[in-house]
Amino acid sequence: MARCRASSSSISRAELVGDSALAAGYVPFQKHSTILITGAAGFLVTQLVTALLSTERTANSRLILVDLVQPSIPQTIPDHFGSVKHAQTSNTALALQADLCDASQVDDFVRTQFGVPDTIYCLHGIMSIGCEDDFDLAMKVNIDSVRLLLDATRKFAATGNTPPKFISTSSLAVYGGPLPDVIMPSTLAAPQGTYGVTKLMCELLINEYTRRGFLDGRIVRLPTIVIRPGAPSAASSSFISGIIREPLRGVPSVCPIEDSLASTALDSLRIWVASTKTTIQKLITAAQIPASSLLPHTRVVCLPGFTTSIREELDALQESGGENALQLVKLGLLVDEGGIVRRFKEDIDASSDQ
Ligand SMILES: NC(=O)c1ccc[n+]([C@@H]2O[C@H](COP(=O)([O-])OP(=O)(O)OC[C@H]3O[C@@H](n4cnc5c(N)ncnc54)[C@H](O)[C@@H]3O)[C@@H](O)[C@H]2O)c1
Repeated sequence: MARCRASSSSISRAELVGDSALAAGYVPFQKHSTILITGAAGFLVTQLVTALLSTERTANSRLILVDLVQPSIPQTIPDHFGSVKHAQTSNTALALQADLCDASQVDDFVRTQFGVPDTIYCLHGIMSIGCEDDFDLAMKVNIDSVRLLLDATRKFAATGNTPPKFISTSSLAVYGGPLPDVIMPSTLAAPQGTYGVTKLMCELLINEYTRRGFLDGRIVRLPTIVIRPGAPSAASSSFISGIIREPLRGVPSVCPIEDSLASTALDSLRIWVASTKTTIQKLITAAQIPASSLLPHTRVVCLPGFTTSIREELDALQESGGENALQLVKLGLLVDEGGIVRRFKEDIDASSDQ
């Protein structure tokens, strides 16, 4: 994807996008910071935990990891020189298997042997296709359980002088309807899909809990992460990684956009993407910027990414894997009832104040 155009390389209202956050007064985690992370068996948290354990920026943190699926604690982590060392996590990380929809359990995550968390990463959830397939589950997991966690945070963690930081990941799925070529901070978020609705509702809740002083919310709208490692996910954006990841392993992959390589739709469908590494760095930075660098009325920041097209992805695949790899991409039209795929819009301008 060498020929992609950078669409959002700076952001003025938060240091979230640049390393300037490190130089310009970021607030390090406390010496014995306790960090609760939900969605801990998922893709992003697995990467986040390794990063938290291997950076000086989070030295001495204690981690409480929660997921419906038993999360694992990394046994080895990369050191600062890239070699692998044993992780000293026996007294610093707890891995709990639990259903965050179960109100009777949620308070327990905020009252563990590590004490009350000062930082909460809320990253569990049902992805876009899962939400379209099961509306009730989407409401329960993506909204109701987040509210349980917000209230547990409010009840137990908000007793200190500093409100706990509550970091949540949102998505471009909050946008729907006719969109401009470049999505601006002022662009109306009007989702047309269950996933986007749940994300937007959580954004509003976190804004309000922040306004009331219950917690210090920080919401990051993420680009699509490319290349996401592992198996295809239940996100409608899954094919954006799949059409590169699978063919490079010699496995066929479906591109559900058009049925011919000659189609101009492969050029016109533009997607906003970022690497895993950048996204994880920004998730850590999101917890370390001063609360005052976010606006009081919206705690939302679009993380940096760049815009590319499916054509540019396929060109990059051909360049790296040759004609054989390209031949493994099966083109086929998707029945896109929610219009989810079409809404992988576009350019994001995260550079001006919201
Ligand atoms: N990966 C991306 O490109 C991307 C883009 C935008 C937003 N996001 C958001 O970031 C977050 C993490 O994404 P991911 O890609 O790591 O997702 P993922 O699907 O890999 O992980 C989600 C985790 O949530 C857990 N979970 C679901 N229901 C639960 C419940 N009731 N109780 C406890 N745990 C439960 C699942 O078991 C899973 O491990 C999600 O909120 C997602 O919506 C991700």
